[in-house]
Amino acid sequence: MIASLLPWVFASAFVLPSLGKLYHNPSKLVNTTYDYIIVGAGAAGAVVAARLSEDPRISVLLVEAGISNEGIVPATIPLLSLSLTPNTILDWNFTTTPQPGLNNRAISYPRGRVLGGSTSVNYMVYMRGSAEDFDRYASVTGDSGWNWKNMQQYAKKNEKLVAPADSHNMTGEYIPSLHSTSGAISVSLSGNPTPLDSRVIATTQEFSSEFPFNPDLVGGNILGIGWAFASIDNGTRSSSATGYLSPAYGRPNLDIVINAQATKLEETGNFGTIPSFRRVLVAENAGARHEIILSSGAFGTPALLQLSGIGDSTELRAVGVAPVVHNPSVGKNMSDHALLPNVWNVNNPDTYDSIFRNPDLFNASMAQWINNRTGAFASNIANQIGWMRLPESASIFRTVPDPAAGPNSSHFEMIFGNFWLNPTTPAPPAGNFMSITIALISPTSRGSVQISSSNPFIKPLVDPKFLSTNFDIFTLVESVKISKRFLTAKAWKGYVRSGVGELETVKTDAEIEAYVRKVTNTIWHPVGTAMMSAKGASYGVVDPDLKVKGVDGLRVIDGSVLPFVPNAHTQGPIYLIAERGADLIKKDFQAAICLTC
Ligand SMILES: Cc1cc2nc3c(=O)[nH]c(=O)nc-3n(C[C@H](O)[C@H](O)[C@H](O)COP(=O)(O)OP(=O)(O)OC[C@H]3O[C@@H](n4cnc5c(N)ncnc54)[C@H](O)[C@@H]3O)c2cc1C
Ligand SMILES: *[C@@H]1O[C@H](CO)[C@@H](O)[C@H](O)[C@H]1NC(C)=O
Ligand SMILES: *[C@@H]1O[C@H](CO)[C@@H](O)[C@H](O)[C@H]1NC(C)=O
Ligand SMILES: *[C@@H]1O[C@H](CO)[C@@H](O)[C@H](O)[C@H]1NC(C)=O
Ligand SMILES: *[C@@H]1O[C@H](CO)[C@@H](O)[C@H](O)[C@H]1NC(C)=O
Ligand SMILES: *[C@@H]1O[C@H](CO)[C@@H](O)[C@H](O)[C@H]1NC(C)=O
Ligand SMILES: *[C@@H]1O[C@H](CO)[C@@H](O)[C@H](O)[C@H]1NC(C)=O
Ligand SMILES: *[C@@H]1O[C@H](CO)[C@@H](O)[C@H](O)[C@H]1NC(C)=O
Ligand SMILES: *[C@@H]1O[C@H](CO)[C@@H](O)[C@H](O)[C@H]1NC(C)=O
Repeated sequence: MIASLLPWVFASAFVLPSLGKLYHNPSKLVNTTYDYIIVGAGAAGAVVAARLSEDPRISVLLVEAGISNEGIVPATIPLLSLSLTPNTILDWNFTTTPQPGLNNRAISYPRGRVLGGSTSVNYMVYMRGSAEDFDRYASVTGDSGWNWKNMQQYAKKNEKLVAPADSHNMTGEYIPSLHSTSGAISVSLSGNPTPLDSRVIATTQEFSSEFPFNPDLVGGNILGIGWAFASIDNGTRSSSATGYLSPAYGRPNLDIVINAQATKLEETGNFGTIPSFRRVLVAENAGARHEIILSSGAFGTPALLQLSGIGDSTELRAVGVAPVVHNPSVGKNMSDHALLPNVWNVNNPDTYDSIFRNPDLFNASMAQWINNRTGAFASNIANQIGWMRLPESASIFRTVPDPAAGPNSSHFEMIFGNFWLNPTTPAPPAGNFMSITIALISPTSRGSVQISSSNPFIKPLVDPKFLSTNFDIFTLVESVKISKRFLTAKAWKGYVRSGVGELETVKTDAEIEAYVRKVTNTIWHPVGTAMMSAKGASYGVVDPDLKVKGVDGLRVIDGSVLPFVPNAHTQGPIYLIAERGADLIKKDFQAAICLTC
């Protein structure tokens, strides 16, 4: 297994270039007051720190609980992302509460704990969501600034399209006009061909009405199957640490401190009748003249709000936290993409399973990557992905309104992996595999994140409530039948041998449901735990400008604010949210200094 081949990689001698000055210990910080303090250096926090510090008048402190990404070689090698979590030095090591919808299994739930946050450990699939996702964010918040059209200026600042690692001709795999070449995160098409490529594409031709080819999955029209993009630059991971923080290192107005877990936000007075929170506890206290920005992710952000007395008063009192602001939405309404790994035995030794299991092949792939950043290690988990809807005639729609963001948004995703793509069950010692791993894109289950103690070092309870609704289980059951239908195309004849485990034998809906509940997991896309809602709404945690409701001096900018999980792997949409969030802050800063100028 891959894990057994990795220790030497972690211990290996190669060191990446040093990237500028960081404080490794919060007690070494010289300054105590900044204009803005950002808590968490993940997808969103790194964007906000980099964009705010572009303005030399603005002083910024970026606080990160985890370690530096520098020198962690496996985190730079795309295919080795599979080894970075769970339960490593780069992970917070969350575990969910027992999930009744998953036969009471409690599952491990990784989150990056390193500069770059989860973008330093993720699988790098890059999308932005459907146009309808953003139009829905705009309509539920009453702020047209979140609509797809307006967000394109931020997509431009985020994406830098680059050549794939193998420099192949990209014609037919994307629509150039939908991409930006001037943003911060390098994005590329697959850098290593696999035996699935021609077969997946041939299936979109043979079964073009059920499985249409989508010429570009990034441009907002996401339905259909197409070539996947990844945040990879010349065979190397592009994360918020490499893409946003690296260019900002060394700016005199930006301090970055690592190994610094913020434990609480403190009330520092009030603004009219509402409390101000401009102090953050990170070993030494640090104060913000303007604002504190919480970018601690969908688990860290609600936990820190609750630890600071912002949440459901009754629930806070029950764990010994004195309530300051009663807001029962904090930590609620978590939505996530459940993951159903469907794996088949295949008749071809050329799958990644061979590399992960055979030390000679592993070393040869490593040597090739070191030599010129090509080969299997230069690619991520999937060269094609597909975004699918249930048929309009599906029986579930007689009782449940369609939860998708709109008619051009999906209910589930198909991820085509040239190997055993089941992150939680190790591959067997022999065999070659392909996967059609399904992500449930429009779940109706809603979960929660809740502290169970006033001790910030005790992890919050994470309860995604996976498969707790009829719609969710219905959709995954149908996705199994649809995936099997996909493999009846001519292209798979002689390639696919048989489904692994119960996948091969399940026939009735009840049998398929039992299989789904036994193997379903997560693809780690939690959002919604500090959701935005319209100003004055009876629920929600932040206003459309991302300011915390009922509080002065505090914003949330990260995945927590998304009210619905998007039609995308979540880094892209969160990058866009953060770009706009930084813009909103810069506008407020300009307005504030002009009052006194
Ligand atoms: C294993 C895995 C695979 C994934 N694969 C993909 C993929 O292929 N494509 C994709 O688009 N998305 C993927 N994702 C999801 C994507 O990476 C996340 O949605 C995104 O990074 C979330 O951004 P964020 O800013 O909200 O939080 P994060 O990126 O998680 O950042 C939060 C940061 O805050 C820090 N922090 C938390 N609490 C504190 C505190 N109290 N004090 C100081 N710092 C704190 C954390 O250490 C972390 O650095 C994956 C995620 C995981 C875990
Ligand atoms: C997660 O687990 C790994 C392995 O046991 C450990 O090294 C790491 O410190 C843990 N992370 C946290 C935040 O506890
Ligand atoms: C890429 O392929 C297309 C279509 O086959 C062709 O028109 C184009 O010239 C090729 N580009 C390069 C750089 O070879
Ligand atoms: C820290 O304070 C010094 C002295 O006032 C100042 O020059 C420097 O820019 C400050 N650093 C930051 C990141 O604000
Ligand atoms: C969850 O979100 C829905 C809207 O999608 C809202 O009606 C409900 O009040 C929210 N629940 C909480 C506890 O905030
Ligand atoms: C693979 O490379 C590592 C590190 O160089 C070495 O220790 C190991 O012996 C190699 N294994 C094989 C099978 O060559
Ligand atoms: C990269 O190196 C490998 C050998 O390690 C070689 O086979 C391949 O052709 C090289 N590719 C490029 C683009 O140089
Ligand atoms: C990609 O990386 C290799 C190995 O470091 C290097 O030789 C090559 O010049 C790089 N290519 C580009 C386009 O940066
Ligand atoms: C859905 O997308 C298609 C193709 O882009 C477009 O023609 C159609 O108008 C869209 N439908 C809606 C309801 O937006």
